[in-house]
Amino acid sequence: MPAKIIVVMSPKGGVGKTTAAVNIATAISNLGKKTLLIDANLETPHVAVYYGFVGFKYSLEDVLNERTKIEEAIYTGDNPNFHLLPSRVAKSGTDRSAHKLININLYINKLLGKYDFIVIDSKPSYDIEFIKLIKEANSLIISNPDITSIIEAKKLKQELEDAGISILGLVINKVNTRIKEQMTKKEIEELTRISNIWEIREDNKVYNALKVGIPLVISSPKSFAARDINSIAKQIIRI
Ligand SMILES: Nc1ncnc2c1ncn2[C@@H]1O[C@H](COP(=O)(O)OP(=O)(O)O)[C@@H](O)[C@H]1O
Ligand SMILES: [Mg+2]
Repeated sequence: MPAKIIVVMSPKGGVGKTTAAVNIATAISNLGKKTLLIDANLETPHVAVYYGFVGFKYSLEDVLNERTKIEEAIYTGDNPNFHLLPSRVAKSGTDRSAHKLININLYINKLLGKYDFIVIDSKPSYDIEFIKLIKEANSLIISNPDITSIIEAKKLKQELEDAGISILGLVINKVNTRIKEQMTKKEIEELTRISNIWEIREDNKVYNALKVGIPLVISSPKSFAARDINSIAKQIIRI
């Protein structure tokens, strides 16, 4: 079976898209599925930071610019099921125009037979044109439980449906039941009509994971957010 491709998207920046992409990909690999995580967010790439991974030689940009073969830019660590294709944080003023991404599908195609899952952290805010580049891509929408975020998630859902792109589900991140003003899962379900809605609780351990450069599901597997993410990963591999 070719790899299942999951493009992690969010209608707004700062909602936890990279946190979700990193931890869901890591959790899926911990379930024994061969997983590749690609940082395709060329403008503000942070995936490598979440793994404390610095000083790597080649990045996705080098692959897209034909400076190296894709195999050279894919890194492995302790977990043989997990591979990472990072992007590099650019110096300010660097031109990182999106057109370089136009060939990404050619590279992904070559990798389909090697993985069970390919998880992609996409561009900041959403860009429907990006996901359209990738054949057979499934989208996973990340949002927060506030009305503006949910309105944008609903708009994104509509655009994805109009483009014929499959939606795996909506992840509501930073859920805090003590904040009564947050929208409830039921309200979000009624407003968006997305069939799979999952929640990740707000959790200070997320900041700690970033600080130590080890994904939350590994550094604090018993934390609330890690438990939520592991449960989402288990459900995703069954879809
Ligand atoms: N569940 C959570 N609980 C607490 N903080 C979170 C949670 N998810 C993400 N964050 C924090 O929110 C900030 C933005 O997350 P990030 O994943 O970088 O968002 P995005 O990729 O959407 O811009 C980061 O500081 C991150 O540590
Ligand atoms: Mg991000």
